[in-house]
Amino acid sequence: MAKRVGIITSGGDAPGMNAALRAVTRRGIALGYEMIGINRGFKGLLDGAFINLTIRSVSGIINTGGTILHTGRCAQTKTAAGMNRAVKAVKELSLEGLIIIGGDGSLAAGNTLSKKGIKIINIPASIDNDIYGTDETIGYDTALNTAVEAIDKIRDTATSHDRIFVVEIMGREHGFLTADVALAAGCEFIAVPEIKVDINRIASELKKGKEKGKTSEIIAFAEGCGSSYEFGEKIEKLTKLEVRVSNLGYIQRGGRPTARTRILASQFGHFAMNLFHRGKKNVLVGITNGELSVTSIEDAVKHKKKFNDSTVKVLKNLSV
Ligand code: F6P
Repeated sequence: MAKRVGIITSGGDAPGMNAALRAVTRRGIALGYEMIGINRGFKGLLDGAFINLTIRSVSGIINTGGTILHTGRCAQTKTAAGMNRAVKAVKELSLEGLIIIGGDGSLAAGNTLSKKGIKIINIPASIDNDIYGTDETIGYDTALNTAVEAIDKIRDTATSHDRIFVVEIMGREHGFLTADVALAAGCEFIAVPEIKVDINRIASELKKGKEKGKTSEIIAFAEGCGSSYEFGEKIEKLTKLEVRVSNLGYIQRGGRPTARTRILASQFGHFAMNLFHRGKKNVLVGITNGELSVTSIEDAVKHKKKFNDSTVKVLKNLSV
């Protein structure tokens, strides 16, 4: 009888999860495994909700956002009872191990399960790009492009009305997405949690910009910096300029994955299944300096990804 491997997508959906699922499934079947898709993240594992994945059941999904397995945030992954129940479920389903596609919460759950003897391979998928052990996560490039396209549109209104815009960008408590979005969209200012935000300096530079003939400016504001609406109100008070706030919200999580996201997802999925087959366990796959890489889950959980402030410096130098 073929050995069974479980695949799970968990936490926030990210474009490219389906492409990764397709790659894991097809590579797994080619290597002789029976592939089991767990529905609705870890909650589905606890409930025993699964489907048999075939070559055909993952057809036509490489170009779709979201996850056909569905996903969810599962509070029980943070409790000993929940994780013990997950171990039991893995055994009841006779799974050799689990391939987990998701962000930092999924990584933490993978770490706990690996310590309880379950073979785990984590595949990083999150629009936040905040995972140690990979330069890029699945979904990041798509979210980056979505946000840049949205800001390009906002800029039309900013220019036409001579307004200041504060645009809120996702990323939980990190500014990785915001920094790259800001540089790519030509934003004039940036607020990220990794760097102290000096609202008085921003306000005074906005006023100076006006004097220099700048009629509109855009501030990229990471959600981790607090309320973009309060920030916008303060900027309006300090500058006496017309300010509008736009929260890009969940449009950043959805949509057709970019070619780059699909390639990354396909490479990660294929690599993860090859590693599993070679007996490698309890690792996170990633890409480091252009090469596929492997980091122990424990290390990935322990370390924080370094925020590279050179993007912010370049933005400052170019926003003149
Ligand atoms: O981790 C992805 C992300 O979209 C973050 O950027 C955001 O803070 C969070 O998820 C929102 O989570 P939820 O989908 O649970 O509202």
